[in-house]
Amino acid sequence: MTDVESIVSQMTLEEKAALCTGASAWSTTPVLRLNLPELIVSDGPHGIRRQPEIHTLVLKSFPATCFPTASSLAATWDVDLLYEMGQALAEEATALKVDVILGPGVNIKRTPLCGRNFEYFSEDPYLAGELAASLINGIQSKGVGTSLKHFTANNQEFERFSISAEMDERTLREIYLPAFETAVTKAQPWTVMCAYNKVNGQYASENHRLLTDILKNEWGFAGFVVSDWGAVHNRVASLQAGLDLEMPGPKQTRVNAVIEAVRDGVLDEAVLDESVRRIVEVVCRAALTAKGGDFDVAAHHTLARKVAAEGMVLLKNDGLLPLQNPQHIAVVGRAAQKAHFQGGGSSHINPTQVDVPFKELQKLAGNAELSFAPGYPEGPDFEQRFIDEAVAIAQVADVALLFIALPTFKESEGYDRLDLDLTRQQVALIQAVTAVQPNTVVILNNGAPVVVRDWIDGTAAVLEAWMMGQAGGGAIADILFGKTNPSGKLAETYPVKLADTPAYLHFPGENGVVRYGEGLFIGYRYYDSKEVPTQFPFGYGLSYTTFAYSKARASATTFKDIDGVTVAVDVTNTGQVAGKEVVQVYVHDRKARLVRPFKELKGFAKVDLQPGETKTVTIPLNFRAFAYYDPAHKQWVTEDGLFDIMIGASVADIRSTVTVMLQSTLHLPSVLHRESTVRAWLEDPLGKVAFEPMYQQMIGQLNRVFGGSEQGSSETIGMDMNGFLLDMPLLSILHFQEDALTQPADDIVDLLLAQVHSISG
Ligand code: BGC
Repeated sequence: MTDVESIVSQMTLEEKAALCTGASAWSTTPVLRLNLPELIVSDGPHGIRRQPEIHTLVLKSFPATCFPTASSLAATWDVDLLYEMGQALAEEATALKVDVILGPGVNIKRTPLCGRNFEYFSEDPYLAGELAASLINGIQSKGVGTSLKHFTANNQEFERFSISAEMDERTLREIYLPAFETAVTKAQPWTVMCAYNKVNGQYASENHRLLTDILKNEWGFAGFVVSDWGAVHNRVASLQAGLDLEMPGPKQTRVNAVIEAVRDGVLDEAVLDESVRRIVEVVCRAALTAKGGDFDVAAHHTLARKVAAEGMVLLKNDGLLPLQNPQHIAVVGRAAQKAHFQGGGSSHINPTQVDVPFKELQKLAGNAELSFAPGYPEGPDFEQRFIDEAVAIAQVADVALLFIALPTFKESEGYDRLDLDLTRQQVALIQAVTAVQPNTVVILNNGAPVVVRDWIDGTAAVLEAWMMGQAGGGAIADILFGKTNPSGKLAETYPVKLADTPAYLHFPGENGVVRYGEGLFIGYRYYDSKEVPTQFPFGYGLSYTTFAYSKARASATTFKDIDGVTVAVDVTNTGQVAGKEVVQVYVHDRKARLVRPFKELKGFAKVDLQPGETKTVTIPLNFRAFAYYDPAHKQWVTEDGLFDIMIGASVADIRSTVTVMLQSTLHLPSVLHRESTVRAWLEDPLGKVAFEPMYQQMIGQLNRVFGGSEQGSSETIGMDMNGFLLDMPLLSILHFQEDALTQPADDIVDLLLAQVHSISG
């Protein structure tokens, strides 16, 4: 018997029930007589928000490094860097006596309006999953746990505690689950946090299919599921569904409900034991990491600066950047003096120190003279005087640097954005300054894309600096002065306008339901497939150097799905300075039974190159890179056929395409049924064999009837009878001629079906 099993076997019903509900806002119930300590959890995700008192939810937390938020982390496209950051987070957690960090969040950015997008990685599940897995592996490599959240379909803040996110099975499997799946299978987070909302009508906290069938059984999740704070409605139902730990506590009524349910036979004690075993296992594992001590504040601040710089995306540059010794710099915008570096809500960190962008600029500006104007007020009011003052200093300078931060009243946890705009004052400010100063750089601090079309034309350069963490001010200075070459690329599309966004007509829902009507087609999957112009495409970002791609090749031209295929490409730095390129691999399926997005990201790599240097980037593509989820088969499916593997610098900048032939090793049962059309019968390999003789007869008959005389030709009815036939159910065609048949139409089709299913079954 393991230690865990031994502890569980000695626990009383009361102790077991108590363990499954929190003892406080941030801890579990210890069982001292069995030497089982409490487990301390803390937000998360980009810093440690350890409360000074275990029963308080929102007091000022102990100082910790505030790293950039997930939007910025994702734009680094750098799995190794996230691993390193994860290790630093773990060191701080250990020092602050935290066992499990509540994060990262991998919810998919369905719409840029979601107020909490700053805490999530991407609109693409592959990218989000890979980055999260690496961050988790980094944290857990140091003996600190994580809580992958919010499982699942928590893609908006509007009615987030109750709304039912409703989507078809394929959308769930291909868009909203894979980032969780990748993180679970590649990193085994110690815990997973369920979402507040309902998924297809059922609370995520009571969703047996999600928590037990898929997460635990299908993906092999070994840790425990914790509720989001206050997400549990019915404790017994949630336990039965697979929700192991309810937070926060204490809640004696919930504990009593569990005890009674077991006593009354409503809840099988084995179900409770399974949850207890999972929790005890994590508590014991966490106890192996000795807590306390210090962390290296300065080193982590330096790391935070590096991460921030790697995530910043240069959106526009007419050549002004990097700055070439300007003598007089006008710095405009409150965010230059008071950095806007994180978002509001449960992720809010009390930073160890904060870089002031203005001061960081001063450090790198040499002898240049810097002037400052706040540019806009703190609140939502419009105040012309701030604009006049900014114009006055900008017009006499060589360069104007505009620090534009999206205010928290527009973007935060808890509420969604109403639009994608900056404030009216900020737009007017940029327009007024660029009118007098062509050398204007706009530096954005926000957690999700904004509409830029009203003001971008007048600017010389735009830098997306995100919610950049406490050291972001220094990172901005590094990029503006060319100490760091920008290498971030967008992990989310910048739309031209709100109405272009894929979920626009299906958001935020009404009467308690939000229908994901756009299905698979979110983010670039939508813009790219539908050829909708974007402001900046997914994967886009400028550098101070240029890169050439050459010699794209695949390890095989024909390959089996289970073997996968590896693509390689040579990337050369063709510019004058060192830089990093994010190479992206998209897969395009030439033909599939089901509709597919035109391109899907299935691999990427970030490569560091000196001027003139060439490196070969190699990216393996496995079964899943080519598969789609087929609800008819209830599984991931590959089909024989040609695939274009597109290698590019963004989804819209494909540099090379390699075409390969996939051979599927699947032997799937036929999905033909009574209502299948003639076309479906002919396209199904087994169906074709069974049906072909009858089809030839039908065609012959059709030609006899319609092929001959004037009166009887296809022309007289104004349609192509062959085409008409193809899209009719076989059964319906037979019904038309039932009297001429030797047996009933239904029997004929059933016989054919029996033939097909006996072979395939
Ligand atoms: C948030 C979680 C967070 C928890 C604890 C909830 O409201 O949705 O992300 O971890 O609070 O603060």
